Amino acid sequence: MERIYITTPLYYVNAEPHLGHTYTTVVADTLKRHFQSIGYEAFLLTGTDEHGDKIAQAAALDGTSPKEYADRISDLFRSTWDACGIAYDHFIRTTDTYHQEYVQKILQKIYDAGEIYFGEYGGLYCYGCERFYTEKELVDGKCPDHQTAPQFISEKNYFFRMSKYQERLIEEIQNKPDLIRPERYRTEVLAFLREPLEDLCISRPVSRLKWGIPLPFDNNYVTYVWFDALLNYVSALNHRGGDSLQTFWPKAQHLIAKDILKPHAIYWPTMLMAAGLPLYDHLNVHGYWVMDSGKMSKSLGNVIRPLEMKARFGMDAFRYFLLREMAFGQDAKFSEEALVTRINADLANNLGNLVSRVLAMQQKYFAGVVQPVGAEWSAEDRELSNKFAQAENELNGYMAELQFHRALETLWSALDYTNRYIVQTSPFTLMGPRPGVIRTESDKARVGEILHHLLDSLRSVARLLAPFMPDTAAEMRALLAIDDTAVTAPWGEAFRAGHKVNPPKVLFPRIETDTSK
Ligand code: MSP
Repeated sequence: MERIYITTPLYYVNAEPHLGHTYTTVVADTLKRHFQSIGYEAFLLTGTDEHGDKIAQAAALDGTSPKEYADRISDLFRSTWDACGIAYDHFIRTTDTYHQEYVQKILQKIYDAGEIYFGEYGGLYCYGCERFYTEKELVDGKCPDHQTAPQFISEKNYFFRMSKYQERLIEEIQNKPDLIRPERYRTEVLAFLREPLEDLCISRPVSRLKWGIPLPFDNNYVTYVWFDALLNYVSALNHRGGDSLQTFWPKAQHLIAKDILKPHAIYWPTMLMAAGLPLYDHLNVHGYWVMDSGKMSKSLGNVIRPLEMKARFGMDAFRYFLLREMAFGQDAKFSEEALVTRINADLANNLGNLVSRVLAMQQKYFAGVVQPVGAEWSAEDRELSNKFAQAENELNGYMAELQFHRALETLWSALDYTNRYIVQTSPFTLMGPRPGVIRTESDKARVGEILHHLLDSLRSVARLLAPFMPDTAAEMRALLAIDDTAVTAPWGEAFRAGHKVNPPKVLFPRIETDTSK
């Protein structure tokens, strides 16, 4: 059986879950469900990143200890993902004992191998990013992310011989063109690697920072937060025991946004090389969600909270918007107006309407009872089933490339075709009163067949949509009164004649917008 290991970043516990975190997590969940649907064994890991200056400072501001503070926010992440229906297999916290022990084990191993040395370093340090900056990386002397001037600090620390791996890393990236994808991020990393790579400072003196994993070979120091956090991807599998590590490790699909490209594309693979572990399969990098009003921030009061979105619009509608609106790899704009427009156009008018229309006809003409479908299919019938086969193929291709918006577009083009099929075959005309025309038994049988094909379309939609909108797919299956086996049966064989489907129900009420504004 093929396997896939999907990871989200471990989110810092200094902020509550927002739109950005939700996007990556929803993408991870969708990928997992999709790969499972095509027969893979999948494992999804998420969790929280809890050590370091940033968290210690946030806890101090909050008047609590770092651990109490981390407990509270970490629980909030976990309960948010539960409430959002995210099918994660394991939730890791970097304060978990097994993770701390694993980090120490790897540190000791690479220290013993001579890959870590003690030295002095002075440089410009951004506390927000928890890293040193070179002059070149600064914008007007400030950290490009935090818009604050970094401080010069100089201290003795431990360094990982990252520079030693520069050539091998370049080779790995060149040999596997989609190791880092999409292409633009690969190009960015290769451009960065044209300059000499420096060694990585992997410790912080306890005199400055206590909130971290102690170095196993010097307890005057704690581990640099990135060296600690990145190892989660392996420590979690190791903790699961059995052969999880061997089974899933090199099958990793990491999901991140562009903000943390460098640690994942440079630190992490070189750490893996030093630890003697194979590299991940793919690093998948997406863009940023930006608000109309600019960057999302607490001070601007424009933070989008997933549970608020769920309460107002429904989780599936929110998921649909996120996956349909952003082209993976590029930035996208978030606005409520755009969200409502998509819900009304794509979900209420298109998908919702189609489901109601088909079930209403089935109810009205045959009291919900499915009619037989003959061996001879009309050209339109064949075209309809072909459209879905084709959509499925294309969708699988797009999913392999993380082109979620294209995958959904493809599915919606099959919906459009289904609507066209209704117009072409015109069941309501065949069944309706036609002056001077007497409805025959064969007209009625044909309508039964048309509806049978339409029910098959809905069943296919329910199947292909499930990874993106799992609750809606389940509701559709309930309306069609079918179980999972019927969902995957070949076209024409899922519904027996005599099977009864349910009356229609409104899946997505139209959202009225105040047009007077
Ligand atoms: N703790 C580190 C990651 C360690 S991984 C071993 C970290 N945490 S974070 O809380 O800042 O999360 C960053 C991630 O959150 C991004 O890479 C992305 O997945 C998500 N996003 C946060 N804001 C975002 C947007 N505005 N838009 C899209 N995703 C963003 O970095």
